[in-house]
This record gives sequence, C-alpha cells and structure tokens, in this order.
Amino acid sequence: MSGLIPDSFIEELLARSDVVELIERRVPLKRVGSEFHACCPFHDEKTPSFTVSPRKQFYHCFGCGAHGSAIGFLMQYEGLEFLDAVEELARMAGLEVPTTGSKQPRPDTGLYDMLAACSKFYVEQLKSNPAAIAYLKGRGLSGEISRDFDIGYAPAGWDALIKRFGTDDSKLEQLKKAGMLSTGKSGSYDKFRDRIMFPIHDRRGRVIAFGGRALSDDGPKYLNSPETALYHKGRELYGLYMARQRSGRLDDIIVVEGYMDVVALAQFGFRNVVATSGTATTPLQVELLFRAADTVVYCFDGDKAGKQAAWRALEATLPKMKEGLQARFLFLPEGEDPDSMVRKHGAEVFAEQIAAAKPLSEFFFDRFTAITDISSLDGRARLVQQAQPFIETMPQGVFREMMTTRLESLAQHRLQRQSAPSAARAPDSGERGKPVQKRTSMRIALAHLVQNPALVARLDNVEDFTGPTDDEIHCVEIFRELVDFCTERPNITTAQLVELWHDHPALPHLQKLAVWHLPGEEEKQAQEFIDAVNRIRLMWVEILLSRVTNIMDEREKYRALQQRQQALKKQLEGEQDSVK
Ligand code: UTP
Ligand code: MN
Repeated sequence: MSGLIPDSFIEELLARSDVVELIERRVPLKRVGSEFHACCPFHDEKTPSFTVSPRKQFYHCFGCGAHGSAIGFLMQYEGLEFLDAVEELARMAGLEVPTTGSKQPRPDTGLYDMLAACSKFYVEQLKSNPAAIAYLKGRGLSGEISRDFDIGYAPAGWDALIKRFGTDDSKLEQLKKAGMLSTGKSGSYDKFRDRIMFPIHDRRGRVIAFGGRALSDDGPKYLNSPETALYHKGRELYGLYMARQRSGRLDDIIVVEGYMDVVALAQFGFRNVVATSGTATTPLQVELLFRAADTVVYCFDGDKAGKQAAWRALEATLPKMKEGLQARFLFLPEGEDPDSMVRKHGAEVFAEQIAAAKPLSEFFFDRFTAITDISSLDGRARLVQQAQPFIETMPQGVFREMMTTRLESLAQHRLQRQSAPSAARAPDSGERGKPVQKRTSMRIALAHLVQNPALVARLDNVEDFTGPTDDEIHCVEIFRELVDFCTERPNITTAQLVELWHDHPALPHLQKLAVWHLPGEEEKQAQEFIDAVNRIRLMWVEILLSRVTNIMDEREKYRALQQRQQALKKQLEGEQDSVK
C-alpha cells in the first residue's frame, strides 16, 4: 500500500516470490524442522537466532528483532527503498510493476539508459586517450580498479556527448534531464569536458550521476552532476553500491570526502569506503551507512574544513545512535587525505589508524572542553548548556545514558534526566530489552491468525462479534477486520498480510504478534486459537449483556445472550477438561 502500487500487485508479487530462496542466495541457511536458521545478517552473533519460515514467508531474528517479508528483507539487506525493493523482486519474479494509477510518475526509465550509455561511452573514450590513462597511472590506479569503478574519460571539446547521443530533439532533451549538458547563450554543450569521470551508482547499481575531475588546471577541480529526477546528492553515497556488491553486510564502513580517496583506498584493499562527494553528511546518508554496517568511521582531513565536516557528520549521526551501533572519527594530519596517507604509509598503517579512530563521545566532549574552561563554575555551566541539546537529539538508551553520565562528571553535578529508566534494564524483558507482551486471549488469537491466516476456516459463529465497539475494546474491531480479511483470502501468507496492512494503524501491533513464538503442532495450535477465540466470544457476549439496560424491553435478546454465555462457558470448561 505504497499509494503508487496496487495492493493486488503486492499480493501477487509475494505469492510468486520465495523468501527462503531470496535469503538463501545471500545468507547460508540451515533447515531445522519446518523452518530455516542462520546467524543474523543484521547483527553480530555466534549462535543463530535468525529464522525464516517458508509457510509464513517471513523472517525474524530473536536476537535483534529484525523481521519482515521478502520486500522487507530486500529493503533491510540491500538498503533499498520500498519501491526499489518491489521493482527488484518483480524483476526476479519476471513481473512488470504496474505504473497505471500512480499520481507521481516514476522517473523516466529512458534516463537510466541514457546515463548508462554515457558511462559506457566515457569508459571507451578512456581506452583511446593516452593522456587520461597516464594521469590515472600517475595517481597509482591500476586498470583493475578503473574497471571496478567504471572510471572513464570525457573528451575535450564541446560536443562529444551531444554528437554521440543527442541525435534528435528528444535525445537532447534527455541528455539535459540527465544533467549531462550545460546551456549558454548559443545553446547547449557538454557539461563534462576533458575530465576523468566517476559514475555515481544508486543502490541498485544504476548510473544516476557523475563526478568529473579536471585534467587541466582551468575550471573547478571537480564538477558534479546537478540534482536531477534521479540524483539527489544528499541521498547518495559514492561507492556504496560497489562496497555492498562485495559483501552483503560490512563490519565497518569508512566515509571519506573525495572520489579519489575511495578508489585509492580500494587499490589498497579497502573495499568498504564511500564518499559524500563534497557535501555535508545528511541524516539520510547516515541511515544508509548504518544499514550497511554497525560501525561507521568518518575519515576527514585534519584541517578546519575537515573538522567542520566531521562535526556536521556527528550532528547527523547522534539521532541514529541506537544500541549496537558505533561511530568513530579519524582526523588525518593537516595537508593529507586518505589517498595520500595510504600511498605514503601503506595499508597496514592506515588500517591501524582506522582501528584507533576516536569514538564519537570522545570527539564530542573534546570539542566542548577545548572551547570552555571547565575549571570554573561558569565554564561548567556553559558546557552543560551547549552540550546537552545535542545529547537530547539521541534516542533513549544505553549510549545516551553514557553520554549524560560523562557530561555530569565533567560538569560536576547531576543533571535532570528526562529519560525513563532504560527498557534494557527492565526485569521482564525480551529481545534487545523490549518488554515482553502479556499473552492475553486477544493477542493469542490475533497472533495465530496473523501467523496462519488459513485458521480462519476453523471459525464458526463469527456473528458473535456483531455490535459497536468503543475505545477500550477496540481490539475486537481489529479482530473482526482481520477475520474478514482472511476469510476473503484464505491462502494468504503472513508476509502478504503484513504488506497489505502496510497503512493500517494496527500494523505495528500485528507485526509484533507475527513473530511471537507459538509452539506445538498444527492441531494443538488450531485448538489454542479456537480456545482463545471462544474466550473473546465470552468476553464479548458479556459486554453485550452489560449493555442491555432494560431487560423487559430486550427480553428476547437478553435471553439469547445468556444462553450463548452459558454455552460458551461450558465449551471452555470442556476444553479445560480435555487439556487435563
Ligand atoms: P578534494 O579537493 O579534497 O579533492 O575534494 P580530492 O578528493 O583530494 O581530489 P584530488 O586528490 O585532488 O584529485 C574532495 C571532494 O570534494 C568535492 C569532490 O566531490 C571531491 O571528491 N569537490 C572538490 C568538488 O565538488 N568541487 C571541487 O572543486 C573540489
Ligand atoms: Mn586528494
């Protein structure tokens, strides 16, 4: 229910895909009974707590709580947006994503083709340009790295690209839309001329923009594609696609400033490097970084600009600092960048420096203690005043607590905490410190239904649930809705159900229930389900009874309800007996 793609398509797509097959290609799975187990690809662990259920078409990690459908897996594992994940899955299933009815047309697929053609053209041009090859050799790049990154060359002159691809007005228009042309008084001309070209890929590996480094001294050293329908620079990271191609989930990811830094480090064996391409790190980019790895190491120049860039990165990172994630900062000596460092000192020294990068908290407090005199009362007050607002942008949790404690010890007084005690320390806790939900009859019934929608066929007398609901018993409404939904689609899987309820306010609740552990064989489960539903029925009948205000006026109804109440009680007692 993305608003753009019809539900029926999502349903069909998930019916034609197999989550086990999808995951197996990326994570080795081991069959255990009717499920598959693996070490979770989304957090570090030694014993497997990641499970994939072929029946539910759903995956779930008991360690970190990650869960979802095949679409969800692609989003989480490959770092794709919802629409991209749907397209990718559709491609694998051989389905065409319907575009009709979409309010916002998807970006012109012709643009992707055009940019791919431009990239190919630049790669060809590089082969026949000795000066450009010599430049890359001079900077120490091998042919292999050039190939891995599809590095190319944009010829000098004004219209190499136009001559090649701008053969008619519509093609010219496309080149313009792709950001490949500049326009002056006398018309359009090639934007990139006599430059080494670095194609920028989106998360699916499609070329969406370029960065071009000048070979000669005229003009800016680097030119980047403008923002286009396909390229939003704050949402992309140069090198991310290549890094993820090599390994699904990285241990750590290094963030540098420049294209050359990425390729130079690749040359020295560091394939986990991305660049922000001369812009401040955005919160969206931080999100992408943490989707790719648990540890992010920002590696910036030691100069003032580098420090500033690092601080911007820190600001974007603080709100994402959930448990289990780490950010560190490496500052290079003045005048050096990662490219020059690794060439001068070698891979080993660089790896040591990365390993010794400053933790986020250290960089954070160093900066404040450098500008405030904490030996004075005044200075300490200022420290709190300045540092606290940043800490408050962090999510509640152990890391934020640590930062607050450190601030308290520097300021030499206790701060008022807004935070509730961390959930991680609550005694009754489940996965990653989330409180365990109580197993009420309603939750048990919903959990069974979400996990096994076909159970709906075992229900009779659904009419027990007629009548208006109010806030307190809102869950009955959800239950009715779910029963109707499953009745209409008896063959639906958990994964399909969850995707189709995408916009439903009850979805977060149902998602929790979708991963509840419901032990026992099929028949026992079905019995548990029916039993739970009967309890809800009884509760509902009793609510209806309590709503009868005048027994004389509603005699018939009252009597019928009473009879139903007795019958249900008997049934439930009978079930109790048979369990004993
Ligand atoms: P740097 O000036 O540090 O370049 O810019 P670099 O990566 O060390 O390049 P070399 O080694 O001189 O070839 C870092 C990044 O800032 C952006 C580019 O994305 C570049 O990779 N930049 C820089 C521009 O966009 N325009 C410029 O004129 C300069
Ligand atoms: Mn450089």
